[in-house]
Amino acid sequence: MKKIPLILDCDPGLDDAIALLFALASPEEIDLLGVTTVVGNGPVQQTQENARRICELAARPDIKVFQGCPRTLFAKLSSSTYSATDIHGETGLGDCKLPPPSMPLQPQHAVSFIIETLLNASEKITLAPSGSLTNIACALIMEPRIKEKIDKIVLMGGVIGLGNITPTAEYNFYCDPQATYVVFMSGVPIVMIGLDVTRQTQTSEEWLHTIEAMGTPVSQAIIDMLSYYHRPDAILEPGVTGGVLHDPNVIAYLLKPALYKGRHAYVEIDISSTIMAGRSTVDWHKKLSFQPNGYVINEVDTAGFFDLLTERLKRYTHVMKKDPTCSHS
Ligand code: RIB
Ligand code: CA
Repeated sequence: MKKIPLILDCDPGLDDAIALLFALASPEEIDLLGVTTVVGNGPVQQTQENARRICELAARPDIKVFQGCPRTLFAKLSSSTYSATDIHGETGLGDCKLPPPSMPLQPQHAVSFIIETLLNASEKITLAPSGSLTNIACALIMEPRIKEKIDKIVLMGGVIGLGNITPTAEYNFYCDPQATYVVFMSGVPIVMIGLDVTRQTQTSEEWLHTIEAMGTPVSQAIIDMLSYYHRPDAILEPGVTGGVLHDPNVIAYLLKPALYKGRHAYVEIDISSTIMAGRSTVDWHKKLSFQPNGYVINEVDTAGFFDLLTERLKRYTHVMKKDPTCSHS
């Protein structure tokens, strides 16, 4: 399999952290060109520091991490008020107490990195956003020429059915409806992995025990993160009994698309200031005559997802043995 040149745009965040570990454990398939961070689950200062913490946890201080937009396009809120501490905890990584990162933050702004990397690329690059789409939209607005250098955007966001942050909207799209609108109207190929799918990949006690049994500093950090995410008062929706691993689905799709099913459909993003803000209306049954602008996923092989994620996270057992100097408080 030819390596996928990838930029992961994220807001770590507990499930973003697992997605990043998942990607870093898959070097045969993924050439991670950079990790760009954005406001969403927390202020961008926190999301970029957490991205660096996770790279160091994975013994990959060589990864280029960039700080992106500190607020969304039409934010009524200042960036300091962004947080999802009720879900991800004060640090954004639950009960996982990793030391402040020592690897460098890249000096270039994330949006400039995305633009420069795409324009200079000799082959098309895949973008994998797992937070609000603010960085991606800003890149598309600032430099439209990047469109022909994007192979596809595989994103976690949106929903065909009921939202999670409001009855209508999923959190990433709700954070920045206008940015989401820009991306879906850009004409760039999009794979939309929404809540209809990600709610099927929830942590279970049994799976958490499998991770804990790996017995490495990485698996312990994952347990410290996901046990916080798995706790009952973090379960905000009826029918959800575990921590929903939303963002790792983006990486699983890149590694093994056969785990997923979906269809090409027209998706419209609501940018009003009503309760519909951030709603992704998916014309699943082609009631309208609009051209599809996304490949919308609606099914996942849940067992296959966890088998793949577990197998890749198990690889850190070897990584940690190679580099016993890594210490994690
Ligand atoms: O709605 C779920 C999404 O919002 C996930 O990406 C999670 O990390 C939060 O950003
Ligand atoms: Ca996220």
